[in-house]
Amino acid sequence: MSGAGGLSIEPTARVEFGPGVVQRLPEFVDTLGFTRAFVVTDRGLRAAGIVDRVVKILDAAGVETAVHDDISPNPSTVEIDRGAARARDFGTAVIIALGGGSPLDAAKGISLLVGNASSTAADADTLWDAEPGLPLIAIPTTSGTGAETNGFGVIEDTHARRKVYIGHSSVQPRIAVLDPELTVGLPAKVTAATGIDALVHGVESLSSRGANAFSRAYAAQAVTLVSRWLPVAYRDGSDLEARSQLMLGAHLAGRALTISGLGLVHGIGHALTAHTGTPHGVALATVFEEVMRFSLVEAADAYAEAARAMQVTPDADAAIDSVQFLCAVVDVKRPLRDLGATPELLSAMASAAVADAVTKNSPRLPSESEVLEILRAVY
Ligand SMILES: NC(=O)c1ccc[n+]([C@@H]2O[C@H](COP(=O)([O-])OP(=O)(O)OC[C@H]3O[C@@H](n4cnc5c(N)ncnc54)[C@H](O)[C@@H]3O)[C@@H](O)[C@H]2O)c1
Ligand SMILES: [Zn+2]
Repeated sequence: MSGAGGLSIEPTARVEFGPGVVQRLPEFVDTLGFTRAFVVTDRGLRAAGIVDRVVKILDAAGVETAVHDDISPNPSTVEIDRGAARARDFGTAVIIALGGGSPLDAAKGISLLVGNASSTAADADTLWDAEPGLPLIAIPTTSGTGAETNGFGVIEDTHARRKVYIGHSSVQPRIAVLDPELTVGLPAKVTAATGIDALVHGVESLSSRGANAFSRAYAAQAVTLVSRWLPVAYRDGSDLEARSQLMLGAHLAGRALTISGLGLVHGIGHALTAHTGTPHGVALATVFEEVMRFSLVEAADAYAEAARAMQVTPDADAAIDSVQFLCAVVDVKRPLRDLGATPELLSAMASAAVADAVTKNSPRLPSESEVLEILRAVY
C-alpha cells in the first residue's frame, strides 16, 4: 500500500457556518483580542450592499473600522503594496478579508506586508519564512476558491505576466465565517464560474501527487456537494439550501487542496488568466475535461473516486462525462478564441503553465508541446 509512511496534518482554523452567522462578527474580533478592524474587500461587494451590511454590524458593537475596497479581480502586486501602506497607516487591527478569492488572497498579502514593512509584494518568494502578519478573519462571499482555508494568495505579477504565490503560516485565517446568506445575490454567471472552480479543486485534489487519506476525504465530500448543488444554486440563486451546501462544498474542497495541492488544470488556468484576464473559474472550465482526458491513465483510480462522489458509474470515463455535463448545465465553457487569446499567445501560455508550481503536482507531467496541443484543441 502506498502512502503508509506517516502523515502530518496542521491544525485547521475555526469555522463558523450557517445562515446569519456574520452577525456574530464582533464576537469573533473580540475573541482574537482586537477592538479595531481593517476590512479588505472590493467595489463589487460594496455595490452589492455587503460592505455596508458588515460595517454596520461592526459599528453597532463599537469596533473601529477602516474599509479598503481597492482590490480588483485577480489582484496585482501593486494593489497589495497600496493596501499594505493603508493598513500600516491604520495601525494595530485584525484584518477582515471580505469577498471572493480576490479580496481574500489580497488580504493575506496585505497582512503579511504589514508585518514586514521593508518588503513589497514583489518579494513574495522570500516572505514564506519572514516575520508574521496580522491575524485574519475570512468571510468568503463566493462559493469557489476555498481561500479561507489556507495561508497563501495567488497574486498577479503584472510585469512578468504570471501568477505568483504570496503566503505565510501566520496569514492563514484564524476564523472562517461561512454565511451562505452573503452569496444569495451572487450573479448566476459568477455562481457558475466559482462553483466550477470548487469542483476542479475537488477533482484535482483527488488526482494530485500530494493526495492522502485526509485530502481524499475532504475532496470526495466536496465533489459530492458541489456536483449536487451547483446546478440548483445556478438555476435559483435564492435557494438558501443550495447556497449553504455549495458553500460547505467549496470550503471542503479548499481544505482538500490545502493538504494535497492542485494540478495542470490550475497551471493552464493561471496562465490563461495572466494573459487574458479571464475569470479564474472560466479559465479552468476551458480545459477541465481535456486535462482529465490527458491524465486518464495515470489518474484512472482518482477519477473513478470522483465519479463515485458524483454518484455516477464509478469509472474515469463517467467522471469526465459528468464534468462535461456540469460545465454545460451552468454554461461556463468557452473556446479560447472567445476569451481574448490570440494564436500567438498560445506558446507563451503553454510555457507559463508548465513553469507553474501547481503543474508539478499533476498525475501526468506534461511537456510544453503537450500543453500547446491541449490549448490548440480548445481554441
Ligand atoms: N488561495 C486559494 O486557495 C485560491 C484558490 C483558487 C483561486 N484563488 C484566486 O481567487 C481569485 C478568484 O476568486 P473568485 O473566483 O472568488 O472571484 P473574485 O473574488 O474575483 O470575485 C468575482 C466578482 O464577484 C463579485 N462578488 C463576490 N461576491 C459577491 C456577492 N456575494 N454578491 C455579488 N457580487 C459578488 C466581486 O465583486 C467580483 O467582481 C483568483 O485571483 C484566483 O487566483 C485562490
Ligand atoms: Zn481554483
